[in-house]
Amino acid sequence: ENTALLKAIIDNAIDGIITIDEHGIVESINPSACKLFLCTPDAVIGKNISVLMPPPDRQQHDEYIHRYQRTGVPHIIGMGREVTGLRTDGTTFPFRLGVSQVSFANRKIYTGFIHDLSREKEAEEQLREYA
Ligand code: HEM
Repeated sequence: ENTALLKAIIDNAIDGIITIDEHGIVESINPSACKLFLCTPDAVIGKNISVLMPPPDRQQHDEYIHRYQRTGVPHIIGMGREVTGLRTDGTTFPFRLGVSQVSFANRKIYTGFIHDLSREKEAEEQLREYA
C-alpha cells in the first residue's frame, strides 16, 4: 500500500527527517534523525523543535515560525541554511537544514530535512590546521 511504501522510504532515508506542526511541535522523526540527535521518538514527539537546538536559536525559533506565518517571507524554506543542532548528550553538530511547507488535510505542517555536515567540517578544520 502507498502509505506503507512512503513510511519505508522515510524510515530508510539517509538524511534526518522531522515534521512539526504550525506551532513548532514535533509530530514525527525518522531513525536517521534520532541517530543524529541521540534521541528516541518518544523523547521528542510532542516537544517543541527548539529542544534540539542551542541558544540563541533555541529562544528565537518560535518567533522565526511566527514571523514567517505573518509575513510569508522565508529565511530557510526554499533555500536551506547551515545550522547547529543540539544532541541529547549536550554536544552540538553542524548540519544543512532544508524546510518545506506541506498543506495536508486543511493543516499546515513543516518538514525539515537534516543533512549532517560533521565530517566535512572536521576535514575542513584539519586542513586549516595543516595549512
Ligand atoms: C526558521 C534554525 C530545525 C522549521 C529558522 C531560522 C533559523 C532556524 C536560523 C530562520 C531565522 C531567520 O529568520 O533568519 C533552526 C535550527 C534547527 C531548526 C538551529 C535545529 C534543530 C527546524 C526543523 C524544522 C524547522 C527540523 C521543521 C521541521 C522552521 C520554519 C522556519 C524556520 C518553518 C520559518 C520559515 C523560514 O524562515 O523559512 N530555523 N531550525 N526548523 N525553521 Fe528552523
